[in-house]
Formats: sequence, C-alpha cells, structure tokens
Amino acid sequence: MNNRNFLVINGPNLNRLGKREPGIYGAQTMEDLQTELVLFSKELLLDLSFEQSNNEGDLIDLIHGAENKFRGIVLNAGAYTHYSYAIRDAIASVDVPVIEVHLSNVHAREEFRQKSVIAPVTIGQISGFGFDSYKLALQVFHNQLKGDTL
Ligand code: DQA
Repeated sequence: MNNRNFLVINGPNLNRLGKREPGIYGAQTMEDLQTELVLFSKELLLDLSFEQSNNEGDLIDLIHGAENKFRGIVLNAGAYTHYSYAIRDAIASVDVPVIEVHLSNVHAREEFRQKSVIAPVTIGQISGFGFDSYKLALQVFHNQLKGDTL
C-alpha cells in the first residue's frame, strides 16, 4: 500500500481527558492530544486520522474499516484493553498492524489493569508516557515505513 495514513483510536472515557483523574491522566484534553499528534505527524510526514468512541461495537467497526485504508493503528482501548475479547478478535481479523498505547503505566496500577487481552494480537505495547506513548508509537510506524517492512 502506497500511503502514509495512520489512524489513532481512543476508547472509552478518553474524551474526558483533562477532567478525568488528572493526577493519573494529566490536565491536557483530547483536543490537546490531537494538536500535539498532528504537529508531530507533520514532522514525520505521516497523515493522521483520529477517532474516539465510548462503545465497544463502534471501536470494532473502526478497526474493521481501517483495512485497505490505513498502514497502522495506534489504539488506546481504555478499560476494554483488560477484558474485550471482541476487540482482540477484531484486531486479529484485519491485516493492519496495531500498537497498543496507554497514558498511564498500567503495570504499576491495579491488578486488573496489568492484564491486556489485546496485547497478543498487537505488534507491541507502549504504556506510561502520557502523550509521548502515542508519539512513540507513531515513531515506530515511521521507522518501519523507512525500512518499508510494513
Ligand atoms: C488507559 C488505562 C486503562 O486501564 C484505563 O481504563 C483507561 C486509560 C491509559 O491510557 O492509561 O481508560 O488506557
């Protein structure tokens, strides 16, 4: 595929960024995240699209719809990360590489957050670096494009 289109998908409650548990997730909003990522993606010459949904089925449809459109997906599935076999199966069903990201370090939090049911079907997980988690994921996709290994 000859494009540089990547999709960032945010799952449930991430539309509450800035208001939601700022001690854990920071004071910046979803809009701030998009602004930062658009700037960063311009440096990398990537084309970014953004989606957010609080609904499992919508997230599944977004993953299915990414096939043949996007070179990769940066996915923060929120709490679905820890128990949605349906999202895991959606990722496994498409030929699009997914990087799992988290703002917080899920491994340093409650026990239920330490398990990701989607991690085995992603190409990797980046957790604990705030907005930089997303940027690191984009950097990985960019590096892979350079090697054209995607
Ligand atoms: C999160 C971590 C999840 O455990 C939590 O349910 C979220 C956000 C993160 O970005 O740190 O909604 O994915």
